[in-house]
Amino acid sequence: MEGFGDLFQQDGTFEHITESYEFPASGVSLEIQQMEYENCQLEVGVPLVVWRASLSLSQWLDKNQTQWLKSSSDPVSALELGSGTGLLGLFTIKRLLQENQGSKVTLTDMEQSSLDLLAKNIELNALTTEQVSASYLKWGDFTSPIGEQSFDLIVGSDIIYNNYVLEPLAQTIEKLLKPGSNAYIANNKVRYDNYGRQFEVELEKAGLIVQERIDIQEDKGTQVMRLLIIKK
Ligand SMILES: C[S@@+](CC[C@H](N)C(=O)[O-])C[C@H]1O[C@@H](n2cnc3c(N)ncnc32)[C@H](O)[C@@H]1O
Repeated sequence: MEGFGDLFQQDGTFEHITESYEFPASGVSLEIQQMEYENCQLEVGVPLVVWRASLSLSQWLDKNQTQWLKSSSDPVSALELGSGTGLLGLFTIKRLLQENQGSKVTLTDMEQSSLDLLAKNIELNALTTEQVSASYLKWGDFTSPIGEQSFDLIVGSDIIYNNYVLEPLAQTIEKLLKPGSNAYIANNKVRYDNYGRQFEVELEKAGLIVQERIDIQEDKGTQVMRLLIIKK
């Protein structure tokens, strides 16, 4: 990739680090290949770094299993929107597989750089193609095969960041979530303060309900909003 100094090699691979993440309540551990967080302000870095909200929501899911795991052992189909590195979606499937054998997560993003990285992170975590897939999905565009499916659970982190994404994102959640199912979204609070009110208007127009809106103070000073969205 041109113009980004030493970050990218000629073959498109980038200077990366691999970080380990431990989730003590469930015992889930993950290895995530990523770009250094300091590159998050570069446009090319956006899908390739782990954003704080993805860790924050994964940690919440780890500690609050009774609030989102089903009481039955039936397989769960989960979808992650705007996956980036895939940390949140990969935590979700590893946790689901502890309770619900046969579960699957579909990781999605519109950027090819993310889809390439997701393939690496799926492999690094020794997950099979029956358990995880990574597919192109641009919010509001239902022409891809994913547009034909619906899911028991949707997760997403740091995906609310400008006015243009709000309506297609809300429509995507409505279309791809099964009736009676939940979506958990976490977002940087500063960006949520800017766009959250309009996002909630779009969710309501799409027929969805914001059941919970919780402000989480992270230890590193970043504030994160966590939403529970339900489809009746
Ligand atoms: C700030 S990053 C967050 C990545 C990851 N969820 C995390 O929290 O670490 C936003 C992600 O959403 C993806 N994205 C942005 N707009 C999108 C759209 N309209 N459709 C699909 N993906 C989109 C970007 O490519 C990027 O990977």
